[in-house]
Amino acid sequence: MKKELLEVLSCRTLNGSVYELKLSGASEMRAGQFVELAVPGFFLRRPISVADWEDGVLTLIVKQVGEGTKQLRTVQPGEKIDALTCLGNGFDCSAKRPLLLGGGIGCAPLFRLAKDFAASGIRPVAVLGFRNAEEIYYAEEFSRYCDVTVATDDGSVGVKGNAVSAAADIPHDRFYACGPVVMLRAAAQACGSGQVSMEARMGCGFGACMGCSIRTSKGYARVCKEGPVFEAAEVIW
Ligand code: FES
Repeated sequence: MKKELLEVLSCRTLNGSVYELKLSGASEMRAGQFVELAVPGFFLRRPISVADWEDGVLTLIVKQVGEGTKQLRTVQPGEKIDALTCLGNGFDCSAKRPLLLGGGIGCAPLFRLAKDFAASGIRPVAVLGFRNAEEIYYAEEFSRYCDVTVATDDGSVGVKGNAVSAAADIPHDRFYACGPVVMLRAAAQACGSGQVSMEARMGCGFGACMGCSIRTSKGYARVCKEGPVFEAAEVIW
């Protein structure tokens, strides 16, 4: 964990509730790690997964879910944000035929993973699931690094259904999933070997409060410290 003061480069809307924040000055981070951003006037920091990191520029994709993420959306270029960075473990990147499964805002941390696989000469398949056409973001960016299938719950774009059902016939040797827990559980049951990035309500964000614990086959584990990425077979669903 590092404490860093990051400078806002840009904040742009991706859809009604999702925005992309680019910040400079961040230490190198791996796919699957996350940051905790301080928002003035709010006691708890906001945990946000890393969508990308390149040459000190951190890209975060944020879903506006409450007052804190609403206020964060108003930052202007040049403003400084107090951040805890390099949190959590990250994905393992060990697959030869990777399948990336994203649901909603859970697609975000898979972007850097797609880039990492592409950099090692492997083009993954990504299935990106959204509720409807309006909620789709980053499909074009993903397509630079992987073969993309979009799934929507209402069938307005791509395959009708969620990311797991849309991936039923896609060959792979290992999957990497991030999204709602119901989707992660379905992936664990249907897709064989893989890793899941778990979500949890967080207090401290760095292992001190135990507030984010989940049950695994190895006992209780803190999502913020031992995770957020776990072997799917180890999570007790
Ligand atoms: S949020 Fe405090 S231990 Fe994870």
